Amino acid sequence: MKIKAAEAALQHVEDGMRLGIGTGSTAEEFVRLLAEKVSGGLRVQGVPTSERTARLCLELGVPLKSLDELPELDLTIDGADEVDGALRLVKGGGGALLREKIVASASSRMIVIADESKVVETLGKFPLPIEVNPFGLATTRIAIEKLASKLGLSGDLKLRKSDDGAFTTDGGHLILDAFFGRIPDAEALATQLNSIPGVVEHGLFINMASFAIIAGPAGARTMQA
Ligand code: A5P
Repeated sequence: MKIKAAEAALQHVEDGMRLGIGTGSTAEEFVRLLAEKVSGGLRVQGVPTSERTARLCLELGVPLKSLDELPELDLTIDGADEVDGALRLVKGGGGALLREKIVASASSRMIVIADESKVVETLGKFPLPIEVNPFGLATTRIAIEKLASKLGLSGDLKLRKSDDGAFTTDGGHLILDAFFGRIPDAEALATQLNSIPGVVEHGLFINMASFAIIAGPAGARTMQA
């Protein structure tokens, strides 16, 4: 299903495009298909949203630039952990939310590719990744907990781990995964998380996706807000 979504997204890629390239297993299927087109003569310049995606692109021969070299992009194609009917997203399961959000916001359009399992009525079943500066972690955590309780949300914040300690993002930050459950007012949470000083970014992507390509057993469909 991920391949079907990636194939459908590839139809929107045109010769000469400046392309933001997402992170995660669905985005990686897209990179594989894109690489085949590139070896067949398609010219694109890609800006990767993570070191992991950069490595795969380099391995498969997809030409890359940094965002500083290409500060404005035509299209970003990326996966998501959750998508609701208004195309609000939860992202960051792969830990790349900060670069993903910067790259998506530099793009004229963002297409989300996902399988049916990612579509939800209300965001929050998937824990919300919140990227925080390591300095003042305990203080930032308390501030997030207070905000959550003010908004009527409850649940644990868990520091994301890797095999050798705390998980560190490409930008050198930490991730608190917030197990809030249903998030009825994602806009309020997004705005207020941004006002906490130690929060670098959060995984709520609102008003960013142009449309989503959702693949199920019967094929891929387009989901508009
Ligand atoms: C990466 O940080 C995430 O935002 C991914 O886009 C998300 O986790 C989707 O990954 P999969 O395509 O592997 O489900």
